[in-house]
Amino acid sequence: MNQTAELSWRSGQVPVSERFDDPYFSLENGLAETTYVFLDGNDLPARFRDGFHIAELGFGTGLNLLATLKLWRDSGQQGCLHFTSFEAFPMDAEAMLKAQAAFPELADIREELAPHWLSGATAIKTESLSFNLILGDARKTVSNMAQKSDAWFLDGFSPAKNPELWEQSLLAQVAAQTAPKGTAATYTAAGFVRRSLEAGGFTVQRRQGYGRKRHMTVARMPA
Ligand SMILES: C[S@@+](CC[C@H](N)C(=O)[O-])C[C@H]1O[C@@H](n2cnc3c(N)ncnc32)[C@H](O)[C@@H]1O
Repeated sequence: MNQTAELSWRSGQVPVSERFDDPYFSLENGLAETTYVFLDGNDLPARFRDGFHIAELGFGTGLNLLATLKLWRDSGQQGCLHFTSFEAFPMDAEAMLKAQAAFPELADIREELAPHWLSGATAIKTESLSFNLILGDARKTVSNMAQKSDAWFLDGFSPAKNPELWEQSLLAQVAAQTAPKGTAATYTAAGFVRRSLEAGGFTVQRRQGYGRKRHMTVARMPA
């Protein structure tokens, strides 16, 4: 059985995990940070192609999924985006929709996908999206992923508060599940995260972080 997320709300709009004592996204501008860290950090939309596969550690509110699908469509990309997300403590649909409502830019996609969350779906298949939510501890599920990922969004809570999602053995599974020339991005620049990604075979680079964060990490697999 999966446990559900336990939440409080900051400023009425930003969900904060009681279990991990950390907000799900930046209090200042969650969408801009997602765009900077995960989309730009994985060199998107430039690398999009039909069937491009993104995998994410930590589905949370679905913000990253919505932002990615919007970029896919705004960039005029044809075909189907594949998106797999791993989540141990799923939020209920009402909480997801409340959190997503903070981003008016995403309103159309929020409305489009809402019926899926409200019905409890963990898989969505439309013309432009093939989505799978893999419930359970990512440390036990990532190695079973059927299709290697072209881009990873490493979006656990902060490494200090959620060390499980940054364990070297999990990042080794992430590396093993990355396609040639695949990439990963994360907002953290913690040295042990960078070293674990390197140990898995990624070439790792530290970049300027979003907003007040000094650095973030991007990583790329060889061809
Ligand atoms: C920062 S939030 C993710 C935010 C999300 N990407 C979004 O767009 O809203 C981190 C997520 O990781 C999940 N998580 C924490 N430990 C986990 C684990 N061991 N396996 C899978 N998910 C985990 C949390 O429940 C939480 O939803």
